[in-house]
Amino acid sequence: MYGNDFGAPEEASGGGLLGEVEAAEAALREAAARQRRGAPASDDDLAGFFAEVVEADQKIEPRDWMPEAYRKTLIRQIAQHAHSEIIGMQPEGNWISRAPSLKRKAILLAKVQDEAGHGLYLYAAAETLGISRDELVDLLLNGRQKYSSIFNYPTLTWADVGAIGWLVDGAAIVNQVPLCRCSYGPYARAMIRICKEESFHQRQGYEILHTLSHGTPEQKAMAQDALDRWWYPSLAMFGPPDGESTHSTQSMAWKIKRFSNDELRQRFVDMCVQQAEILGLTIPDPDLRWNDERQAYDFTQPDYDELMRVISGDGPCNRQRMAHRRQAHADGAWVREAATAYAAKRAAENKEKVAA
Ligand SMILES: [Fe+2]
Ligand SMILES: [Fe+2]
Repeated sequence: MYGNDFGAPEEASGGGLLGEVEAAEAALREAAARQRRGAPASDDDLAGFFAEVVEADQKIEPRDWMPEAYRKTLIRQIAQHAHSEIIGMQPEGNWISRAPSLKRKAILLAKVQDEAGHGLYLYAAAETLGISRDELVDLLLNGRQKYSSIFNYPTLTWADVGAIGWLVDGAAIVNQVPLCRCSYGPYARAMIRICKEESFHQRQGYEILHTLSHGTPEQKAMAQDALDRWWYPSLAMFGPPDGESTHSTQSMAWKIKRFSNDELRQRFVDMCVQQAEILGLTIPDPDLRWNDERQAYDFTQPDYDELMRVISGDGPCNRQRMAHRRQAHADGAWVREAATAYAAKRAAENKEKVAA
């Protein structure tokens, strides 16, 4: 699945990042096997114990004491991530019924279902921090928690499905690979599984664009148009520039975050340039060029004012996405009621069995 069928170097097709996920998984196992200091010596030692575990690159688990701000930061970040997975099903779901072939339809269906699964892993990880899934869903539906701004852009053509896979899932992987080493165990473990699936998503998008860009002139133009529209919103996915990022320093100290927004954005640009060359498409940035001194590409920053507008609710599709989510939640009420009734019935039956 991760083999090389585009004549693309390993790194260009996302293989290098997958290697990092595997390394993080191995590190997680090693950390679990290493002798960990048993428990805090006393209640006065809770903060010291927490700091020691983080410092030793071992994992904080749900039963451990943690600073309240650490818990809150994780809930906010994991919830925003979970909401993004669920809302992110909409732009691509828009194309399931119009996929150009049975094969494309089957692949896209599987991909969109994966995103639902990612949402579930992440809601479950957030629940270990003492908040319920119902509360999290309410916070999304009443607008008090956010999802990624990228999903407020429309998918106008089939090529957009390719651009989302390549760029949006690609940016997500660059962001998320370091989270596989996050200090909070349940989040790190969820991210390892998610990143492996995101790698497939990125490849399926890349393959769609590769097919289009090597097809008819109209197909190639459609692929270029999708790249033109998705490039800057994808760069904006890494968040505001470091100077304006409010949560970064503390998150780095807690080893929730490992790299700054600008470092990750640079890494993404450097990765995409070579991939775009193989596609035969042009990244819509006249100032994109290799900087020998920095050993990285210089590039034009995305429009951060636009990012702020979209985050605050004024993107092209914000209202549509939330209306759709609210409707889907209301339509699913009977399923939740039926599941609750069934669980209650089973619990009563078990109680009777135990009593008998
Ligand atoms: Fe995902
Ligand atoms: Fe994905």
